[in-house]
Amino acid sequence: MDRALINFASIAKLMFMKNGITRREALKQMGLLMAGTAVTATGISSLAACGNSPKKRIILYFTGTGNCLYVARQLADNNTEILSIPQLVKQDRYEFEADEIGIVYPIYGHMPPSMVRNFIKHARLVAPYKFAVLTFGNRKCDAVEIWDRISQDAGNRFDYITTMIMVDNWLPNFDMNEQIKIDKGIPANLQRISADIAQQRHWHEPVTEEERMQHQEFLQRSGLDPDKGFLLLSQDYFVVTDRCIGCAACVDVCPRGNYEMTSQGVKTDGECEFCFACIQNCPQKAIQFSTGERNLLVRNGEKNPEARYRNEHVSLWDIKASNRQ
Ligand SMILES: Cc1cc2nc3c(=O)[nH]c(=O)nc-3n(C[C@H](O)[C@H](O)[C@H](O)COP(=O)(O)O)c2cc1C
Ligand code: SF4
Ligand code: SF4
Repeated sequence: MDRALINFASIAKLMFMKNGITRREALKQMGLLMAGTAVTATGISSLAACGNSPKKRIILYFTGTGNCLYVARQLADNNTEILSIPQLVKQDRYEFEADEIGIVYPIYGHMPPSMVRNFIKHARLVAPYKFAVLTFGNRKCDAVEIWDRISQDAGNRFDYITTMIMVDNWLPNFDMNEQIKIDKGIPANLQRISADIAQQRHWHEPVTEEERMQHQEFLQRSGLDPDKGFLLLSQDYFVVTDRCIGCAACVDVCPRGNYEMTSQGVKTDGECEFCFACIQNCPQKAIQFSTGERNLLVRNGEKNPEARYRNEHVSLWDIKASNRQ
């Protein structure tokens, strides 16, 4: 599907260069050409935006390893603004108005990242249609209901909430080299979600009683506060080894600005989202978990310290641009 989309965009670009028409015009003509043929739902969403009355869509996202940025981009059309939540927080921007506003974030212990939780509490999202896509890797439990509660309490009710399975970047349990080999049906899921959003479907993905119970068990085991989720201290959980070459990638990818280059090397401290942007994006694999009984969540270290993950469609530069403080 990705290849089809890339081809679609490339042909439009060629038309744009060859015929001297705008890229938007080219895409519009492509849309007319392809009408009635079997295109992906993501493609249909793009075509819809080229119609007579394009809707303005805003997609807000948070990402550590690129899955959510990839999804946000796939759900975008020509009239979509894709905005990084860490950048919005940095700019103190909380008011948005559009025809459609979406949010894409990774679930952490089935809950939203702390920054996303705080953002939605302060945000004023004015749109006739609001959708949320929660990415996860293995077990979503009642993530949909958790978001529904948090967003409703904040006065920002979402009309559509769904989950989407992707590579699980939770290093303590998963070997990233194994995760990337698993077919998680991403194109089909993107197609489903794009089609739902294109027709402004009002729907919350159902949650079972068993999933609710699993989340409660998780809270008990992890000791996490359900009102805070993952909000830890980076100095307790991460160490920088002598593999470090001082490239400063960790400084730029941390949405909390927790890394600093000092005369004694790289230091980390501060409240931490546990997004793993630092540990996963360090090109030297120089960042590791600080294990020990106190650090319950990473007590057993990680599955494969030599395997790291970033979504294949997302660059290190993209993560830096999304998260840099
Ligand atoms: C701290 C943390 C907690 C996570 N908790 C869950 C979870 O409870 N269930 C799950 O299926 N995936 C979990 N994941 C996996 C991520 O939700 C998933 O890989 C997500 O797509 C990552 O998105 P990103 O690449 O945009 O950061 C967790 C990941 C992290 C880092
Ligand atoms: S990203 Fe890794 S190698 Fe680069 S400065 Fe940070 S710890 Fe060192
Ligand atoms: S220290 Fe690492 S895990 Fe914590 S917020 Fe920064 S990048 Fe994310």
